Formats: sequence, C-alpha cells, structure tokens
Amino acid sequence: MPRRLRQDVQCDDTTCVAWEATVLPLNYTRASNFASRVGSLRSGAQGAKRKLSFAPLHRAPADVSDSNASDSSIIPPAHSRRIRSFVVRAGRMTAGQARAWQELWPTYGVEFTCQPLDLNAIFGRHAPRVLEIGFGTGDALLEYAKLHPDYDCLGIEVHPPGVGHLMIEAHKGGLANIRAICHDAVEVLEQALAAKSLDEVHIFFPDPWHKKRHHKRRLIQPPFVGLLARVLKPGGVVKLATDWQHYAEQMLDVMRSQPYFENLASGESLYSQRAAHRPLTRFERRGHRLGHGVWDLAFKRK
Ligand SMILES: C[S@@+](CC[C@H](N)C(=O)[O-])C[C@H]1O[C@@H](n2cnc3c(N)ncnc32)[C@H](O)[C@@H]1O
Repeated sequence: MPRRLRQDVQCDDTTCVAWEATVLPLNYTRASNFASRVGSLRSGAQGAKRKLSFAPLHRAPADVSDSNASDSSIIPPAHSRRIRSFVVRAGRMTAGQARAWQELWPTYGVEFTCQPLDLNAIFGRHAPRVLEIGFGTGDALLEYAKLHPDYDCLGIEVHPPGVGHLMIEAHKGGLANIRAICHDAVEVLEQALAAKSLDEVHIFFPDPWHKKRHHKRRLIQPPFVGLLARVLKPGGVVKLATDWQHYAEQMLDVMRSQPYFENLASGESLYSQRAAHRPLTRFERRGHRLGHGVWDLAFKRK
C-alpha cells in the first residue's frame, strides 16, 4: 500500500523519511523489507536480468508549504513548495540496479539531510566540485568523472533506477570521485548544500514541460537560479543544455535577468558552444530524432 504524500517540508528526520517514502518504492528504502525483497529476488533469479516494477506513489503532487532553508539574502523567500519539476514515474528497476541500491549505495550514495553536507568528508578530500542536477542514467556525470579525476562529481536524481545505473557504472569504472543523492534537487540546494560550495553546476536536458500549462514546472526559473547562485563559488559556472527552443529562450531570459550571473557566450550568439565533456545522452538522441536543435548555455557566477 503506498504511503501518502507528505503535507509539508519541515526539515526534521521524520519528514525526510516521509519524503523518501513518497518517492522511493517501499523496497528501496534501506529498511529490512528492502533487503528481504532483494534477497528473495537474488535467490530466485540468480543474477538473471529480472525487472522489478514499481508504481508511482504520487503523480501530480499538491503544492505544500514553504520551507525555511535560506541562510542567504539571495534566496527568494517565496520559492514555495510547491510545484515540482518532476513526477515520479512508474518504472522498472533491474535486479542489478536493485542490487546496486543494496550493495553500492553505502559507497556512492549520499543521504539527503536538512543540514549542509560535509563534502570534504563525503569525498575524503578537498577538491573542486561539480554538481549535475537531474542526471537521468548518469552518462554525462560518469563521463565527467572519468575525464576529471581531480574533480569531485556529485549528482542529484529522483529516479531510483537511474541512480542504480549510475552506481553500477561508477563501480565498473572504478570511479572514486562520484556520489549521488536521490532527492528533489530544489530541497538539496536549499538545505543540504552549503553556500559557495560548488565550482560548477550542470543541468542537461531538464524536463521541458512543453505544454504551456506545465511551464510552471520547469526547473530553470528565477527562484531556482537564486538557489544556484547561493551554492556556487564566485567564478563558478552553470552549464545548461536543452533541445526545446522555447525552454532555451526561457533559460536565456531567466539567466540574463539575474544580477549574479554573466553570460560566457562569445561572438554573436547568446548561446554557448557545446561543452566538450558533454556526451550524447538518450534524451539528446531523442531530440535529434525529433528534428530538434540543441542549445547550450554557460553562465559565470559573479
Ligand atoms: C529529461 S531527463 C534528462 C536526463 C539527463 N540529464 C540526460 O541528459 O540524459 C530529466 C531528469 O531530471 C530529473 N529531475 C527532474 N526534476 C528533478 C529534481 N527536482 N531533482 C532531481 N532530479 C530531477 C528527472 O527524474 C529526469 O531523470
């Protein structure tokens, strides 16, 4: 029986767990039922690629009250909770991904907390840090982590199978500089990341919410960009990409309207060159198939 959507985002342990219960299927919640579910799968499937299905526990969440997360004046106070940028989809988790949640999460997973995370402790070193928001299956983040072993690479994604996929690939590639949080990026930016803690933020092909009535769900809006400004160091860079022209134009308008960002595009175009490290992901391929263009943006935190 799915547990119900929580009604607020007050940040205490109870509500963090309540959030997790609404988003993660019951068998992903680290509780003993997770272990026993995976255990029975293993004994039954013996490594075969069995798929686990889970139903979405909520579809269109109701708006809920504001959290009080700000420690900085640049966070707009009215980033009210809210209209979410995602819907937890019905999806499938392979047996391998479920196993990754059980076996690899302690290595690669970072629990959402309502206090700023100690990234030095999490990565075991002090290094430049890049965050990817909405990494999907993690292709871009994995590629970045491979190309930049000197960077710590943190990813945020709400879709548990994608997190499972990332953990599997990170493990196969022996990548020690990658970690994942499975939680709403808005809350992570508000509560779990310290001000000026990141060197780069990547948001590639965020959900375009192409119907007009859904535009309010788009991630790149002024309050969210205020959160990005808070967590980036001065001189830090935000890289964005989309295959929806209307969203690209919105991104440009929003970023240019913010006093704390400077467009890094050079030449005549206000858009940037494709970032060399950005691989072709499933979503970009889909855009190509649909005949869409691709727009890249890069802005520097002043
Ligand atoms: C269109 S997909 C793109 C995935 C990936 N960046 C790529 O290029 O393949 C957008 C992803 O963002 C995730 N997402 C949307 N809103 C999010 C949020 N608030 N916090 C974390 N992840 C989010 C979705 O679950 C989805 O996997």
